[in-house]
Amino acid sequence: MSASGQRIHWASRMGFILAAAGSAVGLGNIWKFPYITGVHGGGAFVLVYLACIALVGMPIMMAEFLIGRHGQRDPVGSFESLAGKGSPWKLVGWGAVAASFILLSFYAVVAGWSLDYVVKAATGALAGRPAEEISNLFGQLVSSPWQVIFWQALFMVLTMAIVHGGVGKGIERWSKILMPLLFLLLLLLFGRAMLSPGAKEGLAFMFAPDFSKLTPAALLDALGHAFFTLSLGAGSMITYGSYLDARSDLFSLSLRITVLDTLIAMFAGLAIFPIVFAAGLEPSAGPGLVFQTIPIVFSELPFGSVLALLFFLLFAFAALSSSISMLEVSVAYLIDEKNWPRPRATWLLGSGALLLGIPSALSFNRWSEVKPLFGKTFFDFFDMLISSYMLPLGGLCVAVYAGWFWKGEEEKTELLGERKRPWLFPLWHFLLRYVAPAAVLIIILNQTGVFGA
Ligand code: PHE
Repeated sequence: MSASGQRIHWASRMGFILAAAGSAVGLGNIWKFPYITGVHGGGAFVLVYLACIALVGMPIMMAEFLIGRHGQRDPVGSFESLAGKGSPWKLVGWGAVAASFILLSFYAVVAGWSLDYVVKAATGALAGRPAEEISNLFGQLVSSPWQVIFWQALFMVLTMAIVHGGVGKGIERWSKILMPLLFLLLLLLFGRAMLSPGAKEGLAFMFAPDFSKLTPAALLDALGHAFFTLSLGAGSMITYGSYLDARSDLFSLSLRITVLDTLIAMFAGLAIFPIVFAAGLEPSAGPGLVFQTIPIVFSELPFGSVLALLFFLLFAFAALSSSISMLEVSVAYLIDEKNWPRPRATWLLGSGALLLGIPSALSFNRWSEVKPLFGKTFFDFFDMLISSYMLPLGGLCVAVYAGWFWKGEEEKTELLGERKRPWLFPLWHFLLRYVAPAAVLIIILNQTGVFGA
């Protein structure tokens, strides 16, 4: 129900932090961040990424929480309650619902691979084999349409089962279990990496900046990834914010979530690169870094099978706590705006996202040559549509709305804890009004090739 008196809220502050951090921490941290850092040459890229997180990402996260917290509804309903019934700002809510749904459809494909690797690691299929055989396993998996679809479907069923449980019994409870476990596993892998002979080189790669490697493409990737990794522009943070009650201190919540997300990306990089260097592999291996090189590296280490199992379990957990936050956006829409019961909304939308994801699953095998849209496979097209356009555009609209159009100064300052921190509101407003929109416009114009990149 949308009536605020009856709305379900998070049972605890910790529950909310873990759920929102669970949304933020996902494939973006463990798969994408290390690989794009590798491609862009390390240290200097990491610095720019950190600046984008602090100056653009976090202010927009605060704005999304504010909008949801104030609206007490799904993204469409929250914009409606803020801007008025017939307001065009509702379109931003619609864009968020669409973006999260499309994102879920192809995210589940990659997440599904990690389930297959959990089974591979547990059954010893990754142990005691020559490197080439291990790296071929990835090709064998993705070239089989049935296997890919099977794992994608299984991952979607897990996602739906958790969202079916609702905010408290599903999302909050599972986040409380999965997130600390994930953090622990990552610390363990990080510790293992620090003991490897590649530790020094790995640390230097991540933290010693070489600014000559900083291309314009690297700057733009850093900014785009800041949106993806903090779950911005897709309505997830608006929806999670709508389950907050009036007393929440949005600044300290956002700070904790941002720091957790950033720490986990850093630990993932620090767990992976030393091992990559110790084994004499290339840090710039690209998207295959996780699935192809990591199992090879583990197979050569003592206790390698256990480490590989831990790693892929962690990977699957991280993906699951993100996918539930994607499904929750459209489910909340049907519950809040159309009065649907949660189970019906969950299973119907989840099945819809599974069906929509099938062309993406086939992009790696049967339809690898089918490129109907912009010369790209379905997977690449959807990824580009979401990561390069819809998330940054959604984030831009949130920044412009909260910075320029939402007149509730009092409410904004109150929710940001004005009395404790008088410096915060002016700083936040400045970043939201000028810095974030300028940065996003630059990404989008670059994507459309205006700068000839
Ligand atoms: N932040 C998630 C990740 O890093 C992805 C995500 C984007 C989740 C948008 C929800 C909304 O994998």
